[in-house]
Amino acid sequence: MQYMANTLENHWMPFTNNRDFKENPRIVVRGEGVYLTDHMGGKVLDGSSGLFCCPLGHGRSEIAEAVYKQLLENDYAPSFQLATPGSFELAQKLTRITPDPINHVFFVNSGSESIDTALKIAMAYHRACGEAQRTRFVSRERAYHGVNIGGTSLSGMVKNRETFTGVLPNIVCMRHTWLEENVFSRGQPESGAELADDLARFCETYGGSTIAAVFVEPIAGSTGVLVPPKGYLERLRKICDDHGILLVFDEVICGFGRLGGPFASQVFDVTPDIMTMAKALTNGCQPMGAVAVRDEIYETITSAAPENSIEFFHGYTYSGHPTACAAGIATQDIYTNENMFERAADLADYFLDGMYDLQDMDCIKDIRGFGLLCAVELKPKGAPGALGTQIQKDLFWNGLHVKFTGESGIVAPPFISEKSHIDEMIDKLRMTLSTI
Ligand SMILES: Cc1ncc(COP(=O)(O)O)c(C=O)c1O
Repeated sequence: MQYMANTLENHWMPFTNNRDFKENPRIVVRGEGVYLTDHMGGKVLDGSSGLFCCPLGHGRSEIAEAVYKQLLENDYAPSFQLATPGSFELAQKLTRITPDPINHVFFVNSGSESIDTALKIAMAYHRACGEAQRTRFVSRERAYHGVNIGGTSLSGMVKNRETFTGVLPNIVCMRHTWLEENVFSRGQPESGAELADDLARFCETYGGSTIAAVFVEPIAGSTGVLVPPKGYLERLRKICDDHGILLVFDEVICGFGRLGGPFASQVFDVTPDIMTMAKALTNGCQPMGAVAVRDEIYETITSAAPENSIEFFHGYTYSGHPTACAAGIATQDIYTNENMFERAADLADYFLDGMYDLQDMDCIKDIRGFGLLCAVELKPKGAPGALGTQIQKDLFWNGLHVKFTGESGIVAPPFISEKSHIDEMIDKLRMTLSTI
């Protein structure tokens, strides 16, 4: 099928150069296994698992059938003061893989909603503890926490923020963790743990008792795979404990096996108070996110409310939507039954060997990787982001999808990839980058 600019005009596309796209569309019409098919019939290897959400690849019939069956049986029931069975089953499955004592799950519909929900949970918790003065939040430069008002405020990316200044100002950003001396580090870089002391300085400057929570992606994903230096997350945990601050891990990209364990929390052996998740929760097949919290947070908020009253005034029409739960349950079953997190761990070395082999290319400024997540950052050319945008397009027409942010291409293969798929990714990267 031909797509002409005038047939595409009505859809205002997200995070897209609409004018250019509508002149030169890249439309995916099919997905099967690790491959996508574009509207011209070209086969494209999915090198970023969609937007890091499809580790099981595309077209898994078990997930499709679970959703179909659910729609016929019970397509919707209100999520306030009523429920459907799947939400309880999925919450139970999730808490089997979250670290203890994180055993309570609140369902939402996206990563962005999980962030706004986590902000509200933190405020509700402190209020229930008699510490309503904790209204300040801390995040990090080069953080991405989605695009709702809370997540926009927490994000440390100038383009995502500058149009919307003034919405939730009570936020301070720690420095990001990219250091020149760590270029081409594989896994956790050696230096930089002391960057966590920015949090200690905020406690001195503003008073630790005014800070409600610190939000970090254990590995900052969308801004180019910034792996935490050794000791960094442990130090954040300690400072939070010293000052009664909640630590929130945004696991929207890191969760569900991407780093070789269920969540980054177990991989880095640091347990937060709150975890946000989305994306691979349903293998990207249905929109869904979740916030998982420590027992104490759930119990404190719940028991602070009067008997017979709603305890937490928050929720969405589609919280725990039956079809999203069905997709989530089917996805989690496949992860378990097919040992998918172990498979991701087993493939990681082969993948990272291939990625770091690209290091000899002159156009590359840095490579950063951990598990099945790796960024290749190009030396900038022209306006910021111009080269990355062009290379993302060139890669697509050469048969490889890689998500770029600025000059960083973020490669995150599906866990079902064979070594031959990894080889194909690296070959296509090398071939395309050699045109720079
Ligand atoms: C770490 C992180 N948090 C939150 C989000 C927002 O998720 P969503 O796009 O589902 O709202 C993303 C999306 O990429 C993310 O990477």
